[in-house]
Order: sequence, then structure tokens, then C-alpha cells
Amino acid sequence: MGHGAGQACNFFDMACRVYMVRISYEQKPYRRAIMQSFGAEVSSSPGDSTQAGRMILEQDPDSTGSLGIAISEAVEAAATSDGRYKYALGSVLNHVLMHQTVIGQECLQQMALADEYPDVVVGPVGGGSNFAGIALPFLRRNLREGQSTRLLGVEPAACPSLTRGTYAYDFGDTAGMTPLVKMYTLGHGFVPAPLHAGGLRYHGMASIICELYDQGLMEAQAVPQLETFEAALTFARSEGIIPAPEAAHGIAGAIREAQAAKEAGDERVILFNLCGHGHFDMSAYDAYLGGELTDYEYPQAAIERAMAELPQV
Ligand SMILES: Cc1ncc(COP(=O)(O)O)c(C=O)c1O
Repeated sequence: MGHGAGQACNFFDMACRVYMVRISYEQKPYRRAIMQSFGAEVSSSPGDSTQAGRMILEQDPDSTGSLGIAISEAVEAAATSDGRYKYALGSVLNHVLMHQTVIGQECLQQMALADEYPDVVVGPVGGGSNFAGIALPFLRRNLREGQSTRLLGVEPAACPSLTRGTYAYDFGDTAGMTPLVKMYTLGHGFVPAPLHAGGLRYHGMASIICELYDQGLMEAQAVPQLETFEAALTFARSEGIIPAPEAAHGIAGAIREAQAAKEAGDERVILFNLCGHGHFDMSAYDAYLGGELTDYEYPQAAIERAMAELPQV
């Protein structure tokens, strides 16, 4: 799912078809060019090569796409390829989250080297994989060893699945081809605003993250787009690294924590995950610096409309 896409891959000779969300296809041309450089065939989603894509275009010829639609197209391409393609998803699924825990394992060791331990661990949440990666090893310490580190996932205000979604069974994709998953969802028909953090525009969330959130074992916050880019520039100017807009959501959450600690007069050790650089997202920075970006709140009426389409279980 990385880079706003659903992928159907033939692992044997590495032929790869990528369905890239239309708005990301347009906003992130260099990510597309990198995939093409390595031989991937990249199409803008929704497109007319699949039944799912044609159905969406019939309803809305100007659809900017969504991760849910790209997943439908990739699943359909794999399912109708007579075994030529296998479907691969880069987030959301349990094994992907487990694989990412190498991040938190390494952080435990880095923290020990620094003779510190985090009071709070922060990361952006799209499908939930990078956040789970950094947070789960610390959750284990909380549950097994009596630590009390707070775990904070940060999502965009324009795609607030944890903070404003409903915990229910829903499809992982828009056309309803995947198995049902119990998760916080904005509805599989949700089409997010074209904010510049393609990897965070997913209607649902990894089921492990949802269960932890439901049980109060982690927290979530939603941040608006402009605060995110302001945080990204503060970080770039102090650290010399330009973060991906997705990663900048985690940075905005870390800055909020630091400000709250300052106001409360607390010492607070804050660990956050810088999950990607922004070198292929410079068109987003260009738009922000040119004053062209706006905040998007997701309207309550749209959430209610999408909720009406939840499958009855
Ligand atoms: C740089 C970056 N960070 C974060 C994400 C969000 O995904 P997840 O929440 O699964 O880590 C993406 C997804 O494409 C991404 O490209």
C-alpha cells in the first residue's frame, strides 16, 4: 500500500503492476517514476482496465481515487490473472505489522544506549504498520514488565478513522472484494480529500491497532494539514531532514507533546518514528510554501452517509 497504491506482483520474474491512487499519481510523479525505473507498470486508479475502476468512473468520472479503490483494482487484477500475479499489501495486515516491529526493537536498544526510556511513543497512522512497528515492543514492556509508556498514533483530520470512525466489520477495499475486517472505519466508500499525505488516506485501520485503541491501550489524535506542514518545516530547519508529509503527522504529534510537557512543567521523553523522507514530495512543499494548501475537516454528514453502507453482520 506504500505510496498510495495497491500492487499486484508476479514475484517469480518480478513483473509488477501498481494501481496508484489518481491524486498521488498526479501529486507524486517522482514516486511513480521510481517504480517505473525498476520496471513496474503503473496505472492511475481508478482506471478503465478493471471492472472495479470502471464502476467507480461511471459514478464519478473525476474521482481522485482512494487506497480502497486501488486495493479493489489490484485484488481484481491478481484474481483474474490465472495465477500470473499475486496480490501484495504493504500495511494493515497482521504479518506486515509484526514485520515492522524491527523498528521498535531497535528503538529499545537505542534508548538503552542513550540511558533513557520513553514516556510517550508517537507515530503517524495510515494503515497502522509503521506505528505498530515502533509501538508494539513498548506495549509488550507495558503489559509484561510494568512500564507505562503512552502510545500515540497521529492521523490526518481529513481522514480520521480512529478518532471519528466506527468500530465495526467493514471491507478493506471499496468494491467489497476483501474479507470483512473488524476495524475503526469511515466506511469503505469513503473518498478522502486530496491532502498531501497519500499514505494516510485509508478508510480503515489495522485490526491490531483498532483493538488496542478500543481497549484504551493506546491513544490517537487528528492533526490538520497546515499544522502538519508547519511541523515539517520546523523539523527540517532544526534537523536538516525534510520529512515525508505522512511522517510529518508524527512530528506534529511529537511537537504537541513537547509543548504540553513545557506547559505542565514536566520532563517528558518523547520517541517518534520518522518513517520516510520527503524528497519525492517536494511538489507538496512547493504548494505549502506558495500558500496553496488548506485544511480539510471531514464533514460529519459524509461520515454518516458512508456508515449507512456498512455491511450488516
Ligand atoms: C512515508 C509513509 N509513512 C507512513 C505511511 C502510512 O502507512 P502505515 O500507517 O501503514 O505505516 C505511508 C504509506 O504509504 C508512507 O508512505
